[in-house]
Amino acid sequence: MKKKVLVTEQIPESVQNYLREQVEIKTWDSSEQMPREQLLAEIDQYHGLITAKDKIDDELLNRAKNLEVVSNVAVGYDNFDVEALKRSQVIATHTPYVLDETVADLIFGLILSSARRITELDQYVKQGKWKKGIDSSLFGRNVHHKKLGIIGMGRIGEKVARRAKLGFEMEVTYYNRSKKEQIEKDLGIGYQEMEELLKESDFILVMTPLTKETHHLINAKEFKKMKDTCFFINASRGAVVNEKEMIQALEDKEIAGAGLDVFEQEPVDPDNPLLKMNNVVTLPHIGSATAETREDMKFAAKICCKL
Ligand code: GLV
Repeated sequence: MKKKVLVTEQIPESVQNYLREQVEIKTWDSSEQMPREQLLAEIDQYHGLITAKDKIDDELLNRAKNLEVVSNVAVGYDNFDVEALKRSQVIATHTPYVLDETVADLIFGLILSSARRITELDQYVKQGKWKKGIDSSLFGRNVHHKKLGIIGMGRIGEKVARRAKLGFEMEVTYYNRSKKEQIEKDLGIGYQEMEELLKESDFILVMTPLTKETHHLINAKEFKKMKDTCFFINASRGAVVNEKEMIQALEDKEIAGAGLDVFEQEPVDPDNPLLKMNNVVTLPHIGSATAETREDMKFAAKICCKL
């Protein structure tokens, strides 16, 4: 008899067909997340779970009597309680590598959009405000040859550094728990302590995973150290930044703007003040969301076929 896999994340037909050859799948077809209560009530029927956001903790695992594998269709796995998974001996997987280049592209989109005011000026044109030549009130800031500070030098950080260095001839430094000497040598980038990086960078990118240690890593104190011309970019997880204090820093003009793909609450609250700020580019957590990469990530779900 085929084993049963619950798929709470939307996955392409091609991947569903691939899975069906080996396991029985039940898909959750709404764009809303499957209600937690329903997931808890049904999970004991399944041997595999393909998810991206569901919290995998003791509460769920204690009910998941038949569960062998949980596959996260994401590189970040802050929704996993790893200790609980170890205790229950359920295998957990995620999708590193396949999305690194795609997320790095998006990060450059955020850097360029915020510094060159692309989304803001797109609206200016579409709203019919472009009546004569533009004046200096609409000027942006250069990206090329500026200084980019990357907090968190993992695989994606490295791809961003490569683009920054080789494409935009930026000066790049990074802060990370451990030094990455080979990357420093290969790309000609430097390590900096957080304090100096915050003070000197024209663009600051946060790219750390969300853990207990990185929760609210960037708060009022850090924003105060940044240059008032600095653009702050976050494409990791919203909660790495204290969002309230970032809003305050933007209101107080302690930084020039922000490019955000992630928020503390997702989907973002329509009343979030960030959505009213012209100097903040806001995206709906689309770092890896290209047709090609999402397809590749879904195939990472094939571990469930090994059941
Ligand atoms: C997306 O945010 C991911 O972690 O893959």
